[in-house]
Amino acid sequence: MREEKGPDDWREVNRARWDERVVLHTASDYYDQGTFLRTRDVIRDFEAAEVGDVTGRSLLHLQCHFGQDTLSWAHRGAARVVGLDFSEPAIETARDLAAELGYGPDRAAFVAADVYDAAEAVPDPAYDIVYTGIGAVNWLPDLVGWAETAASLVAPGGFLYLAEFHPLGDVLDEETGSRVAFDYFRRAAWDEETSGSYTDFGAPTVHNRSVEWQHSLGEVVSAVAAAGLRIAFLHEHDMTLFQRFGVLRRGEDGFYRFPEDRPRIPLMYSLKATKPAA
Ligand SMILES: C[S@@+](CC[C@H](N)C(=O)[O-])C[C@H]1O[C@@H](n2cnc3c(N)ncnc32)[C@H](O)[C@@H]1O
Repeated sequence: MREEKGPDDWREVNRARWDERVVLHTASDYYDQGTFLRTRDVIRDFEAAEVGDVTGRSLLHLQCHFGQDTLSWAHRGAARVVGLDFSEPAIETARDLAAELGYGPDRAAFVAADVYDAAEAVPDPAYDIVYTGIGAVNWLPDLVGWAETAASLVAPGGFLYLAEFHPLGDVLDEETGSRVAFDYFRRAAWDEETSGSYTDFGAPTVHNRSVEWQHSLGEVVSAVAAAGLRIAFLHEHDMTLFQRFGVLRRGEDGFYRFPEDRPRIPLMYSLKATKPAA
């Protein structure tokens, strides 16, 4: 566990926040459940290309929220998907969504548990693919413990795949994204009160406290390597999924980028790390 692990109640505080936001998110344009029920797939193109063909493979999704990404992998051919999240309302919604799409629990199972308890909580000892990200690791105080848990759940010959928002984005000023305003090496938790959600900043909400952590790129890569996995790639991307800075422009592909006359920085990264075949 890193030194500044944050307030003791971080887990309860964050869970209450996430529990409350599930209903908000299922009704939002951001998650657009109507389109999802039709297309059954929200996996971003870069993720699909980097993860490769999932046909016939087993996949564990850590911090799955209400299961859109998890179920998308099933739609893409994964033989069995398991989603884990510590929010009971999220998991109940994911189970309902799986049933609505016609997936039984053998094909798509959802488990309510903390990510640090995943090894004891999930139904199988290991998975061909352990998938996570898109706003996941910032909720975790201890990346070494997270990486050990994730790596233990990768089957021999399988891999961990993580797609995340780049930590460089955490240090730049919100409006222009051009000035270093925050400490890249910050270890202390961000313990804050913000109402609403990324799907609707004005939404009236009650559980508004959040406890989050910044994790540098070096911290992530070193934790995964120390857990015994071999880093296959670390890709940095010039785009992100939302209006992270006021100056970003939404492209035709739906991703947000700096205008062409601005020097770029990476806004997301993705990492694949493999476990040797037995
Ligand atoms: C932004 S979502 C990421 C999921 C997915 N990318 C999405 O957008 O649907 C973060 C998820 O992490 C979950 N979470 C946060 N801390 C957790 C923990 N300690 N254990 C398990 N789940 C956790 C939250 O409940 C939430 O569903």
